[in-house]
Formats: sequence, structure tokens, C-alpha cells
Amino acid sequence: MHLDMRINGTTKLTGLIGNPVEHTVSPVLHNSLFNALGINGIYVPLKVPSGCLKDAVMGLKASGFAGFNVTIPYKEEVLDCVDEVSIEAKLLGAVNTVKIDEGRLYGFNTDADGFIRAFYKQTGTGFEKKHVCLLGAGGTAKALAVKIALEGAKSIGIINRTEIKAIEIAANVNRVPADNGCTGKMALAAVSDTVEAVRMLNECDIIINTTSVGMHPNIDSCPLQQGFIFRSKQIVYDVIYNPIQTKLLANASANGCKTVNGAGMLFYQGIKAFEIILDTVVPEELSANLSTEFLKYLGV
Ligand code: ATR
Repeated sequence: MHLDMRINGTTKLTGLIGNPVEHTVSPVLHNSLFNALGINGIYVPLKVPSGCLKDAVMGLKASGFAGFNVTIPYKEEVLDCVDEVSIEAKLLGAVNTVKIDEGRLYGFNTDADGFIRAFYKQTGTGFEKKHVCLLGAGGTAKALAVKIALEGAKSIGIINRTEIKAIEIAANVNRVPADNGCTGKMALAAVSDTVEAVRMLNECDIIINTTSVGMHPNIDSCPLQQGFIFRSKQIVYDVIYNPIQTKLLANASANGCKTVNGAGMLFYQGIKAFEIILDTVVPEELSANLSTEFLKYLGV
């Protein structure tokens, strides 16, 4: 009989609050980091029913958790459960990482950082002076739009099925103060598949899908109309990583575009969250090796 010595009284406790959490791959990433860095810690998925977020967060605080990640559908609601919110998380309107320190809860957002780091690593391109279109107007679109504005994009088109949500995000981006390097009224909203949306898509440098359209099991769906022609100089990014090549990316690739899926974003937001919660730095070489293994595990 083999004794499992991994957990003891000094194990650092971390986890992921969300609903559903059955398919999360974050425990693989975080527990591999604990292991590789020789830190006595564990990361567990915590499925929290609707209406129980505050109780769950207070329970983790009372139980001595070091921190936790937050995923759908709680990234916005958790703002009301923390004592302090980073400037960036406040601007982005969402928290995906909470650090607990001496009984106080600090909220951060590492999704947008992870996206920028992955995008740059995988395309060699940043957002400065770029014309960008975002498909979708949910929580992910909101965070990415503000971050892309802060990175110095020239224009951001928010294209969504439901107009009011696109208008709200565009207004939010246009409120990003000019002293953050933004140029003022740079965001515009459009309804999916309209002439205006197609014009914005034709003219932009980078197209980013933040909707769930094309995600497993609906792999034959595409957030752009059948027959949309991409320009080969456009970069097309899909936050979806299952499947690794969505219909959108396959169509873009067939038009000669550089395409990237969301696996890198998932990886780097996790690295950053781990660093914040554990007050540590993951060495570049370790993250490069782990990234290879993690993407292999995801089938990327
Ligand atoms: P997340 O937090 O991951 O961004 P979300 O807030 O639920 O998730 O947002 C999902 C986005 O995908 C929304 O913009 C949604 O469009 P609506 O605002 O019109 O609801 C978009 N979306 C989801 N399913 C869609 C579909 N079948 N067709 C078009 N857009 C869809």
C-alpha cells in the first residue's frame, strides 16, 4: 500500500470558482506549476451554485485559502465580494483572480494580460496603431476591448448579434481615459452581418472572435457569414481552443491569413494568476517547457 504524502497541514490551498467547472483544464496547469516549482500546494475546481458566490468566497477566506481563480459566470459578480480591485480589473470590469492576504481579498484580471502575451508570442505583432474588430460583446469582449485600447490600437469595432451590448462596450472603451495613451472615441459598435459590420471587418488588421460560436460540439458554426473573404494580411484570433481550429480559423487560413487559437491565452492567464496568488515568478524556461506540454495535452 502506497501512502499519499502530497497533502498535509501546511499545503497552500487554491482553486477555481465557477459553474460549470467539469471541463476545466486549469487544475492541470496550476498543479503542474506547484510540482515543478517544488511548492507544497494544490488547486481544485469548486462548482458554486447560482446565488452562493458570496458564501463560497467567505468560506475560502475563513478556510485559509491563498487565493483562487474565477470563471464563468462569476467574473463580474465577484467584484462585489473583494476588498480591493486592481486598477486594471476595475477598468476591464471583471476579476478572474483573487489573492487572499491576511484576511483581505484582492481582485485582479489576468485574462487580458494573458491574451496580450500570447498574441504577441504567437504572432510577433502588438496592437499599437492597429485597426481591430472584436466579434461578440460579452465579458471576454469587454475585457479585451479595454486592454487593446490601452495597448494603443487606432480603432476597435465591436460587432455583435445584440446591438445594445456592443454599444455598451464601445462606450466603455471610449471612456478609457486619454492619459492611458488612448486616442479618445476609437470604438464603434455594429450589428453582426450588416453592411457596416462587413465594412469594418474588411478594413481592419486584426479580427478576434470572443463568442462561443464554433466551440465544441457546434464545430460547424462560424461567427462570420459563409463566403466572407478575408484579406491575407489580416490576423485572425479565436479565443476558442476546443476545437484547435474552428471553422472561422479554417476559413481565414484558407484565405492565407495568420491564425491563432485561444490555448496560449488560457496558458498565460494561468501563469500570471499563479504568480499573483503565490507571490512568485515562474521562470521563462519553465513556462516555455510547460507550455509545450500543456498545449500537447490540449491537443494543440
Ligand atoms: P464571455 O464571458 O465568454 O464573453 P458571454 O458574456 O456569455 O461570454 O458572451 C458571449 C458572446 O457570444 C455574446 O456576445 C453573445 O452574443 P449576444 O450578446 O447577442 O448574446 C455571443 N454569442 C453566443 N452565442 C451566439 C450565437 N449563436 N450567435 C451569435 N452570437 C453569439
